[in-house]
Amino acid sequence: MIGVLREFVDLEPKPDDFRTEILSGLSTTPKTSSAKFFYDDIGSHLFEQICNLDEYYPTRTECEILVEYASKIRTILPVGATVIEFGSGGTRKIKLLSDALPTIKSYVPIDISRGYLLQTATTYARDNPSIEVRAICADFTNVIELDDILDNSPRVGFFPGSTIGNFTYSEALKFLRYAAKTLGPGNFLIIGVDLEKDIEKLISAYDDKLGVTAAFNLNILTRINYELAATFALDLFRHKVLYNNKLSRIEMHLESIREHEVRVDDCYFNFDIGETIHTESSHKYTIDNFIHLANDGGFSVLDVLSDPDKLFSVHILQVS
Ligand code: AVI
Repeated sequence: MIGVLREFVDLEPKPDDFRTEILSGLSTTPKTSSAKFFYDDIGSHLFEQICNLDEYYPTRTECEILVEYASKIRTILPVGATVIEFGSGGTRKIKLLSDALPTIKSYVPIDISRGYLLQTATTYARDNPSIEVRAICADFTNVIELDDILDNSPRVGFFPGSTIGNFTYSEALKFLRYAAKTLGPGNFLIIGVDLEKDIEKLISAYDDKLGVTAAFNLNILTRINYELAATFALDLFRHKVLYNNKLSRIEMHLESIREHEVRVDDCYFNFDIGETIHTESSHKYTIDNFIHLANDGGFSVLDVLSDPDKLFSVHILQVS
């Protein structure tokens, strides 16, 4: 039997104003560009490739944890749940989670990217005819009122990939508080969190030998050139990765290799030699630090699953 998408709910999230945010990021000191802008078609494709790199352990390790602890997860979570995935992207991880969960009643992917959401939700529905799929186009960093859309089956939120690591501490706290409201008291959240570790291992995960992460980082300049008629010369910037010890985070930057000027739309920006655009932060947690954050965000921690090398963790939380 072939399944169909039950419902596509468009809450009409406001698209990011790429021009305004890029121009304002380039006007600050240090210059910045939000990591959310990496994911145009080429960037999303490059990110898929990053997930398959030898050096990029998070995706592989999280999948291994979900497989290894499937029966344990099954004992904790309710039967017949509605799984709500925040920022769903691809369907690889929900497939693993569906295997790890007791029978799922429905799957609700939430994403701001309308076209990609429609495509992945339709494919998932087609391949899983016994699961009701309702896709919601919305900005998951806000509270999403689901009571008119969903029935009252138990809800299990799913936020894999350590995407929470790309948020600052206060953004992460805000996300958790909003997710707690969206899910409702007594319901659950399964969240992937990358852990602090040896700095060399972290650096090589974000500066791989094949140069895929460098291409992913530099692609933001190609996107700005294309969408904002800008004049970035890609060979005047290099991919730079550092570990910020104080803030426990990997930082990706694009570093200018000489002094020069770039036009973006009708604005001009000067770059000194060695000056960077800070393009992404990826925060790493200790298990205790994350438990503290989850508690502050309105969740109690039911279990923390990890791999033998303690590279990555999957936290099973319950809304307090
Ligand atoms: C999506 N996010 C969790 C990735 C990370 O590890 O911070 C994005 C990424 N950037 C470079 N490599 C992967």
